[in-house]
Amino acid sequence: MFFNDRREERADKQVVELDNQQIPQHIAIIMDGNGRWAKGQNLPRVAGHQRGMEVVKDITKAASDLGVKVLTLYAFSTENWKRPETEVGFLMKLPGKFFDTFVPDLIANNIRVNVIGYVDQLPASTQKAVQNAIAQTANNTGMVLNFALNYGGRAEIVSGVQQIAQRVLSGEIKPEDIDENMLSQSMMTASLNEYADPDLLIRTSGEERLSNFLLWQIAYSEFVFVDEHWPEFTASVLKRAIKIYQSRHRRFGGLSENKSDKK
Ligand code: IPE
Ligand code: IPE
Ligand code: MG
Repeated sequence: MFFNDRREERADKQVVELDNQQIPQHIAIIMDGNGRWAKGQNLPRVAGHQRGMEVVKDITKAASDLGVKVLTLYAFSTENWKRPETEVGFLMKLPGKFFDTFVPDLIANNIRVNVIGYVDQLPASTQKAVQNAIAQTANNTGMVLNFALNYGGRAEIVSGVQQIAQRVLSGEIKPEDIDENMLSQSMMTASLNEYADPDLLIRTSGEERLSNFLLWQIAYSEFVFVDEHWPEFTASVLKRAIKIYQSRHRRFGGLSENKSDKK
């Protein structure tokens, strides 16, 4: 165990040289593997969530230091209600625990909290913790720490389409006025403006699926899957993922990296 820890520490100190001109502006992470990590340590699943919360603090600071504009973290999906009541209960208490200790750091680092998802369906105390953190960091102008809480990509698209349908029904717009931009504007990420779509999507724990995350927004995101469980994720794993991103050739359907390239 001791030997392992030291080896991990050494591996973690591997220097990853990044191109500072090509830091992904919006990174989205599917934080997966908390339960499996805990099981591997002979701990209850919730111990993985607890440890995962501490990792969120480290990665938030690391991303902010790297100059990332938006960090979106998938914390609870619209499908996670299927889990045992005790686990759901624990997860609902995490935002309160997280912000209780971390808001001063967020303020010190000029980080603003934002949330996407059906927050109104969360327990009142969870809603309160989230709303307080949003209000306390509202004037910060640095990175946006965007939590996906009770979020589901399909539900988000359905809600967006319903809003647009209402506007058609009221005569404000015609069906032919509906375009991609209008759909983007009706997504929960609309307030992120030019950073609404992730450049880089990371999933931890070796699983390679989206689990209903940001379906509309990831049309041209780069995907990086890492084997580490979320409680094992470090700033150096983040840098490794960004390094992989920087080695990719984004073409957006064209021939070069330039989005407006028409050659
Ligand atoms: C991710 O870890 C956290 C949430 C989904 C809330 P999991 O709890 O999914 O951990 P595994 O995938 O079961 O190991
Ligand atoms: C996705 O992980 C949701 C979050 C990380 C919050 P899950 O663990 O819920 O996904 P599945 O069930 O393995 O697809
Ligand atoms: Mg999982």
